[in-house]
Amino acid sequence: MSIGVALPRIMEIGAGAINHLPSIVQSLGGSRPLIITDKMMVQLGYIQQIQTLLSEEGLEADVFDGTEPEPTAASIEAGLACMLDKKYDVIIALGGGSPIDSAKAIAILGKHGGNIRDYKFPRQVNEIGIPLIAIPTTAGTGSEVTRFTIITDEKNDEKMLCAGIGFMPLAAIVDVNLTLSLPPRTTADTGIDALTHAIEAYVSQKASPFSDSQALSAMRLIGPHLKRAYTNGNDIEAREAMMLGSTLAGVAFSTASVALVHGMSRPIGAFFHVPHGLSNAMLLPGVTAFSIPSAPERYADCARAIGVATTEDSREQANQKLLDALETFNRELKVPTLAEFGADKTRFDSLVETMAKQALASGSPSNNPRVPSIEQMIAIYQQLWGNSQCQP
Ligand SMILES: [Fe+2]
Repeated sequence: MSIGVALPRIMEIGAGAINHLPSIVQSLGGSRPLIITDKMMVQLGYIQQIQTLLSEEGLEADVFDGTEPEPTAASIEAGLACMLDKKYDVIIALGGGSPIDSAKAIAILGKHGGNIRDYKFPRQVNEIGIPLIAIPTTAGTGSEVTRFTIITDEKNDEKMLCAGIGFMPLAAIVDVNLTLSLPPRTTADTGIDALTHAIEAYVSQKASPFSDSQALSAMRLIGPHLKRAYTNGNDIEAREAMMLGSTLAGVAFSTASVALVHGMSRPIGAFFHVPHGLSNAMLLPGVTAFSIPSAPERYADCARAIGVATTEDSREQANQKLLDALETFNRELKVPTLAEFGADKTRFDSLVETMAKQALASGSPSNNPRVPSIEQMIAIYQQLWGNSQCQP
Protein backbone atom coordinates (compact mmCIF):
# COMPACT_ATOMS: atom_id res chain seq x y z
CA MET A 1 0.00 0.00 0.00
CA SER A 2 1.37 3.42 -0.89
CA ILE A 3 1.45 6.45 1.37
CA GLY A 4 1.01 10.07 0.39
CA VAL A 5 3.79 12.47 1.38
CA ALA A 6 3.49 16.23 1.07
CA LEU A 7 6.46 18.51 1.67
CA PRO A 8 7.29 22.17 1.03
CA ARG A 9 8.51 22.78 -2.53
CA ILE A 10 11.65 24.48 -1.16
CA MET A 11 13.47 23.89 2.13
CA GLU A 12 16.56 25.86 3.11
CA ILE A 13 18.11 24.42 6.26
CA GLY A 14 21.07 25.50 8.38
CA ALA A 15 22.81 28.52 9.89
CA GLY A 16 22.38 31.52 7.60
CA ALA A 17 19.48 29.99 5.64
CA ILE A 18 17.54 33.22 6.16
CA ASN A 19 19.80 34.94 3.61
CA HIS A 20 18.06 32.91 0.89
CA LEU A 21 14.70 34.53 1.63
CA PRO A 22 14.72 37.08 -1.24
CA SER A 23 15.55 34.48 -3.88
CA ILE A 24 12.90 32.15 -2.48
CA VAL A 25 10.27 34.91 -2.62
CA GLN A 26 11.20 35.53 -6.26
CA SER A 27 11.22 31.83 -7.15
CA LEU A 28 7.62 31.61 -5.92
CA GLY A 29 6.69 34.50 -8.20
CA GLY A 30 6.30 36.93 -5.31
CA SER A 31 6.91 40.65 -5.62
CA ARG A 32 4.73 42.07 -2.84
CA PRO A 33 5.28 40.13 0.43
CA LEU A 34 3.39 40.49 3.68
CA ILE A 35 5.27 39.39 6.80
CA ILE A 36 2.97 37.85 9.42
CA THR A 37 4.52 37.70 12.86
CA ASP A 38 4.18 38.85 16.47
CA LYS A 39 5.46 41.80 18.42
CA MET A 40 8.25 39.83 20.09
CA MET A 41 9.85 39.13 16.71
CA VAL A 42 9.76 42.86 15.96
CA GLN A 43 11.38 43.60 19.35
CA LEU A 44 14.11 41.04 18.75
CA GLY A 45 15.04 42.82 15.52
CA TYR A 46 14.30 39.87 13.24
CA ILE A 47 11.70 41.74 11.21
CA GLN A 48 13.97 44.68 10.53
CA GLN A 49 16.65 42.20 9.50
CA ILE A 50 14.50 40.45 6.92
CA GLN A 51 12.93 43.67 5.64
CA THR A 52 16.45 44.92 4.95
CA LEU A 53 17.38 41.63 3.26
CA LEU A 54 14.32 41.89 1.03
CA SER A 55 14.70 45.57 0.19
CA GLU A 56 18.28 44.97 -0.95
CA GLU A 57 16.71 42.82 -3.68
CA GLY A 58 14.00 45.35 -4.47
CA LEU A 59 11.27 43.65 -2.46
CA GLU A 60 9.30 45.96 -0.16
CA ALA A 61 7.59 43.93 2.56
CA ASP A 62 4.85 45.17 4.87
CA VAL A 63 4.38 43.73 8.34
CA PHE A 64 1.39 42.48 10.28
CA ASP A 65 2.64 41.86 13.82
CA GLY A 66 -0.70 41.30 15.53
CA THR A 67 -0.81 37.49 15.72
CA GLU A 68 -1.64 36.13 19.15
CA PRO A 69 -0.42 33.09 21.07
CA GLU A 70 -2.90 30.23 20.70
CA PRO A 71 -4.64 31.98 17.76
CA THR A 72 -8.43 32.12 17.64
CA ALA A 73 -10.87 32.44 14.75
CA ALA A 74 -11.34 36.09 15.80
CA SER A 75 -7.65 36.83 16.26
CA ILE A 76 -6.80 36.02 12.65
CA GLU A 77 -9.45 38.42 11.31
CA ALA A 78 -7.19 41.49 11.64
CA GLY A 79 -4.40 39.75 9.75
CA LEU A 80 -6.85 38.64 7.09
CA ALA A 81 -8.16 42.19 6.67
CA CYS A 82 -4.58 43.41 6.27
CA MET A 83 -3.92 40.68 3.69
CA LEU A 84 -6.98 41.54 1.62
CA ASP A 85 -6.40 45.27 1.85
CA LYS A 86 -3.30 45.42 -0.32
CA LYS A 87 -3.42 42.26 -2.44
CA TYR A 88 -0.10 40.81 -1.33
CA ASP A 89 1.11 37.93 -3.49
CA VAL A 90 3.20 36.03 -0.94
CA ILE A 91 3.08 35.60 2.85
CA ILE A 92 6.19 35.26 4.98
CA ALA A 93 5.33 33.77 8.37
CA LEU A 94 8.01 34.28 10.99
CA GLY A 95 7.84 33.13 14.61
CA GLY A 96 6.81 30.17 16.71
CA GLY A 97 3.86 27.95 15.98
CA SER A 98 1.24 30.63 16.57
CA PRO A 99 2.30 33.13 13.86
CA ILE A 100 2.87 30.29 11.39
CA ASP A 101 -0.47 28.66 12.19
CA SER A 102 -2.20 32.07 11.92
CA ALA A 103 -0.53 32.71 8.57
CA LYS A 104 -1.61 29.30 7.24
CA ALA A 105 -5.22 30.11 8.02
CA ILE A 106 -4.91 33.61 6.52
CA ALA A 107 -3.33 32.16 3.35
CA ILE A 108 -6.36 29.93 2.78
CA LEU A 109 -9.05 32.43 3.86
CA GLY A 110 -7.36 35.20 1.86
CA LYS A 111 -7.82 33.16 -1.30
CA HIS A 112 -11.02 31.20 -0.69
CA GLY A 113 -13.02 33.23 1.86
CA GLY A 114 -15.32 31.96 4.60
CA ASN A 115 -14.53 31.36 8.25
CA ILE A 116 -11.80 29.04 9.51
CA ARG A 117 -14.55 26.98 11.21
CA ASP A 118 -15.64 25.97 7.71
CA TYR A 119 -12.27 24.31 7.18
CA LYS A 120 -11.92 22.20 10.34
CA PHE A 121 -11.32 18.45 10.43
CA PRO A 122 -12.68 16.12 9.02
CA ARG A 123 -12.75 18.37 5.96
CA GLN A 124 -9.57 17.93 3.90
CA VAL A 125 -8.42 21.35 2.74
CA ASN A 126 -6.62 20.67 -0.52
CA GLU A 127 -7.30 24.06 -2.09
CA ILE A 128 -4.22 26.11 -2.94
CA GLY A 129 -3.91 29.26 -0.87
CA ILE A 130 -1.69 32.32 -1.15
CA PRO A 131 1.98 31.17 -1.37
CA LEU A 132 3.40 30.86 2.14
CA ILE A 133 7.04 30.87 3.29
CA ALA A 134 7.35 29.62 6.88
CA ILE A 135 10.33 30.65 9.01
CA PRO A 136 10.28 29.06 12.48
CA THR A 137 12.02 30.70 15.42
CA THR A 138 11.45 27.79 17.78
CA ALA A 139 12.46 24.13 17.66
CA GLY A 140 9.63 23.50 17.59
CA THR A 141 6.20 22.93 16.43
CA GLY A 142 7.28 21.65 13.04
CA SER A 143 4.51 23.78 11.58
CA GLU A 144 6.84 24.86 8.76
CA VAL A 145 6.57 21.38 7.24
CA THR A 146 3.10 20.21 8.24
CA ARG A 147 -0.24 20.20 6.51
CA PHE A 148 -2.01 21.24 9.70
CA THR A 149 -3.01 24.37 11.53
CA ILE A 150 -4.62 24.68 14.94
CA ILE A 151 -7.02 27.57 15.52
CA THR A 152 -9.17 27.93 18.64
CA ASP A 153 -12.91 28.48 18.26
CA GLU A 154 -13.43 31.10 20.95
CA LYS A 155 -17.17 30.38 21.00
CA ASN A 156 -16.71 27.00 22.69
CA ASP A 157 -12.97 26.95 23.53
CA GLU A 158 -12.38 24.15 21.04
CA LYS A 159 -8.94 23.89 19.46
CA MET A 160 -9.88 23.14 15.88
CA LEU A 161 -7.56 20.92 13.90
CA CYS A 162 -7.53 21.98 10.26
CA ALA A 163 -5.80 19.61 7.86
CA GLY A 164 -4.94 19.27 4.20
CA ILE A 165 -2.14 20.07 1.78
CA GLY A 166 -3.62 23.56 1.45
CA PHE A 167 -1.96 24.28 4.80
CA MET A 168 1.49 23.05 3.70
CA PRO A 169 3.88 26.00 3.28
CA LEU A 170 5.38 26.24 -0.21
CA ALA A 171 8.77 27.00 1.35
CA ALA A 172 10.41 26.55 4.76
CA ILE A 173 13.51 28.36 5.97
CA VAL A 174 14.97 26.57 8.98
CA ASP A 175 17.76 28.73 10.40
CA VAL A 176 19.19 27.80 13.80
CA ASN A 177 20.43 31.36 14.34
CA LEU A 178 16.82 32.47 14.79
CA THR A 179 16.45 30.23 17.87
CA LEU A 180 19.46 31.47 19.83
CA SER A 181 17.50 34.06 21.78
CA LEU A 182 14.77 31.63 22.86
CA PRO A 183 14.41 31.67 26.67
CA PRO A 184 14.84 28.36 28.53
CA ARG A 185 11.12 27.89 29.26
CA THR A 186 10.15 28.18 25.58
CA THR A 187 13.13 26.03 24.59
CA ALA A 188 11.87 23.29 26.90
CA ASP A 189 8.19 23.55 25.97
CA THR A 190 8.74 23.58 22.22
CA GLY A 191 11.46 20.91 22.48
CA ILE A 192 9.14 18.54 24.32
CA ASP A 193 6.50 19.25 21.68
CA ALA A 194 8.96 18.18 18.98
CA LEU A 195 9.90 15.05 20.92
CA THR A 196 6.21 14.22 21.31
CA HIS A 197 5.68 14.65 17.55
CA ALA A 198 8.46 12.16 16.85
CA ILE A 199 7.25 9.58 19.39
CA GLU A 200 3.61 9.88 18.33
CA ALA A 201 4.44 9.65 14.62
CA TYR A 202 6.48 6.50 15.32
CA VAL A 203 3.77 4.73 17.33
CA SER A 204 0.88 6.04 15.20
CA GLN A 205 -1.33 3.54 13.44
CA LYS A 206 -0.62 5.58 10.30
CA ALA A 207 3.17 5.17 10.62
CA SER A 208 5.02 4.09 7.50
CA PRO A 209 8.65 3.31 6.64
CA PHE A 210 8.94 6.91 5.39
CA SER A 211 7.63 8.52 8.57
CA ASP A 212 9.56 6.02 10.73
CA SER A 213 12.87 7.12 9.25
CA GLN A 214 12.10 10.78 9.94
CA ALA A 215 10.74 10.08 13.44
CA LEU A 216 13.71 7.95 14.53
CA SER A 217 16.18 10.50 13.18
CA ALA A 218 14.31 13.22 15.05
CA MET A 219 14.43 11.26 18.32
CA ARG A 220 18.17 10.64 17.90
CA LEU A 221 18.71 14.37 17.48
CA ILE A 222 16.33 15.61 20.17
CA GLY A 223 16.92 13.00 22.92
CA PRO A 224 20.54 13.90 23.79
CA HIS A 225 20.24 17.63 23.06
CA LEU A 226 16.98 18.82 24.65
CA LYS A 227 18.39 19.34 28.14
CA ARG A 228 21.60 20.84 26.74
CA ALA A 229 19.70 23.46 24.76
CA TYR A 230 17.56 24.23 27.83
CA THR A 231 20.56 24.54 30.14
CA ASN A 232 22.74 26.59 27.80
CA GLY A 233 20.95 28.47 25.05
CA ASN A 234 24.28 29.30 23.40
CA ASP A 235 25.16 25.63 22.90
CA ILE A 236 25.05 25.90 19.12
CA GLU A 237 25.55 22.17 18.56
CA ALA A 238 22.52 21.41 20.74
CA ARG A 239 20.46 24.17 19.11
CA GLU A 240 21.29 22.83 15.63
CA ALA A 241 20.33 19.30 16.60
CA MET A 242 17.04 20.52 18.09
CA MET A 243 16.23 22.62 15.03
CA LEU A 244 16.79 19.80 12.55
CA GLY A 245 15.13 17.28 14.87
CA SER A 246 12.07 19.48 15.16
CA THR A 247 11.72 19.82 11.38
CA LEU A 248 12.18 16.07 10.84
CA ALA A 249 9.61 15.37 13.55
CA GLY A 250 7.28 17.75 11.71
CA VAL A 251 7.75 15.82 8.46
CA ALA A 252 7.08 12.57 10.35
CA PHE A 253 3.84 13.65 11.98
CA SER A 254 2.58 15.52 8.94
CA THR A 255 2.66 12.12 7.22
CA ALA A 256 1.77 9.77 10.09
CA SER A 257 -0.32 12.14 12.25
CA VAL A 258 -0.06 12.61 15.98
CA ALA A 259 -1.97 10.49 18.45
CA LEU A 260 -3.40 10.43 21.94
CA VAL A 261 -1.07 12.95 23.65
CA HIS A 262 -1.95 15.67 21.16
CA GLY A 263 -5.62 14.72 21.09
CA MET A 264 -5.86 15.14 24.86
CA SER A 265 -3.46 18.08 25.04
CA ARG A 266 -5.42 20.49 22.85
CA PRO A 267 -8.46 20.74 25.21
CA ILE A 268 -6.15 21.44 28.18
CA GLY A 269 -4.59 24.26 26.19
CA ALA A 270 -7.94 25.63 25.10
CA PHE A 271 -9.66 25.59 28.51
CA PHE A 272 -6.71 26.31 30.84
CA HIS A 273 -4.36 28.22 28.52
CA VAL A 274 -1.50 25.85 29.20
CA PRO A 275 1.17 26.29 26.49
CA HIS A 276 1.00 23.48 23.95
CA GLY A 277 4.37 21.90 24.75
CA LEU A 278 3.68 21.98 28.49
CA SER A 279 0.34 20.21 28.25
CA ASN A 280 2.01 17.61 26.02
CA ALA A 281 4.75 17.17 28.61
CA MET A 282 2.20 16.74 31.41
CA LEU A 283 0.40 14.01 29.45
CA LEU A 284 3.33 12.22 27.81
CA PRO A 285 4.34 9.89 30.69
CA GLY A 286 0.76 8.81 31.49
CA VAL A 287 -0.28 8.33 27.87
CA THR A 288 2.92 6.38 27.16
CA ALA A 289 2.27 4.07 30.12
CA PHE A 290 -1.29 3.54 28.88
CA SER A 291 -0.16 2.85 25.30
CA ILE A 292 2.92 0.63 25.76
CA PRO A 293 0.95 -2.64 26.13
CA SER A 294 -0.32 -2.26 22.54
CA ALA A 295 3.04 -1.39 20.95
CA PRO A 296 5.89 -2.46 23.28
CA GLU A 297 8.36 -3.01 20.44
CA ARG A 298 7.77 0.44 19.01
CA TYR A 299 8.16 2.15 22.38
CA ALA A 300 11.37 0.18 23.00
CA ASP A 301 12.69 1.55 19.69
CA CYS A 302 11.82 5.06 20.93
CA ALA A 303 13.80 4.50 24.14
CA ARG A 304 16.84 3.38 22.12
CA ALA A 305 16.55 6.24 19.62
CA ILE A 306 16.27 8.84 22.39
CA GLY A 307 19.38 7.29 23.91
CA VAL A 308 18.03 6.12 27.25
CA ALA A 309 18.18 2.40 26.43
CA THR A 310 20.49 0.23 24.35
CA THR A 311 20.13 -2.89 22.22
CA GLU A 312 21.37 -4.81 25.29
CA ASP A 313 18.14 -3.92 27.10
CA SER A 314 15.16 -6.22 26.73
CA ARG A 315 11.93 -4.82 25.36
CA GLU A 316 10.49 -4.57 28.86
CA GLN A 317 13.61 -2.90 30.24
CA ALA A 318 13.61 -0.40 27.36
CA ASN A 319 9.93 0.38 27.95
CA GLN A 320 10.58 1.03 31.64
CA LYS A 321 13.61 3.18 30.82
CA LEU A 322 11.46 5.24 28.45
CA LEU A 323 8.88 5.88 31.16
CA ASP A 324 11.63 6.82 33.63
CA ALA A 325 13.26 9.13 31.06
CA LEU A 326 10.01 10.97 30.33
CA GLU A 327 9.54 11.61 34.06
CA THR A 328 13.17 12.74 34.30
CA PHE A 329 12.75 15.13 31.35
CA ASN A 330 9.78 16.73 33.06
CA ARG A 331 11.66 17.08 36.33
CA GLU A 332 14.84 18.46 34.75
CA LEU A 333 12.97 20.81 32.44
CA LYS A 334 10.85 22.00 35.37
CA VAL A 335 7.50 21.11 33.82
CA PRO A 336 4.83 22.13 36.34
CA THR A 337 1.88 19.95 37.27
CA LEU A 338 -1.57 21.25 36.39
CA ALA A 339 -1.98 22.31 40.03
CA GLU A 340 1.35 24.14 40.01
CA PHE A 341 0.35 25.81 36.75
CA GLY A 342 -2.66 27.21 38.59
CA ALA A 343 -5.50 25.22 37.02
CA ASP A 344 -8.62 24.94 39.15
CA LYS A 345 -9.50 21.35 40.02
CA THR A 346 -13.23 21.98 40.41
CA ARG A 347 -13.42 23.59 36.96
CA PHE A 348 -11.29 20.78 35.56
CA ASP A 349 -13.67 18.17 36.97
CA SER A 350 -16.66 19.97 35.47
CA LEU A 351 -14.96 20.05 32.06
CA VAL A 352 -13.19 16.72 31.96
CA GLU A 353 -15.91 14.85 30.06
CA THR A 354 -16.19 17.66 27.48
CA MET A 355 -12.41 17.60 27.10
CA ALA A 356 -12.40 13.86 26.49
CA LYS A 357 -15.17 14.22 23.89
CA GLN A 358 -13.31 17.05 22.11
CA ALA A 359 -10.15 14.95 22.14
CA LEU A 360 -11.99 12.05 20.51
CA ALA A 361 -13.61 14.34 17.92
CA SER A 362 -10.20 15.64 16.82
CA GLY A 363 -9.46 12.21 15.37
CA SER A 364 -5.97 12.00 16.93
CA PRO A 365 -6.78 9.37 19.62
CA SER A 366 -7.87 6.91 16.94
CA ASN A 367 -4.30 6.94 15.57
CA ASN A 368 -2.96 5.76 18.93
CA PRO A 369 -1.67 2.20 19.18
CA ARG A 370 -4.13 1.67 22.05
CA VAL A 371 -7.36 3.48 21.27
CA PRO A 372 -8.97 4.68 24.51
CA SER A 373 -12.60 4.94 25.51
CA ILE A 374 -13.95 8.22 26.86
CA GLU A 375 -13.74 6.76 30.37
CA GLN A 376 -10.08 5.82 29.89
CA MET A 377 -9.27 9.33 28.68
CA ILE A 378 -11.01 10.78 31.73
CA ALA A 379 -8.91 8.51 33.94
CA ILE A 380 -5.68 9.67 32.23
CA TYR A 381 -6.76 13.29 32.69
CA GLN A 382 -7.42 12.67 36.38
CA GLN A 383 -3.92 11.22 36.80
CA LEU A 384 -2.57 14.70 36.09
CA TRP A 385 -3.68 15.67 39.60
CA GLY A 386 -1.74 12.84 41.23
CA ASN A 387 -2.89 10.29 43.79
CA SER A 388 -5.57 9.16 41.38
CA GLN A 389 -7.38 5.95 42.19
CA CYS A 390 -8.42 5.65 38.55
CA GLN A 391 -6.72 2.96 36.53
CA PRO A 392 -7.04 3.71 32.82
FE1 LIG B 1 2.50 19.63 18.86
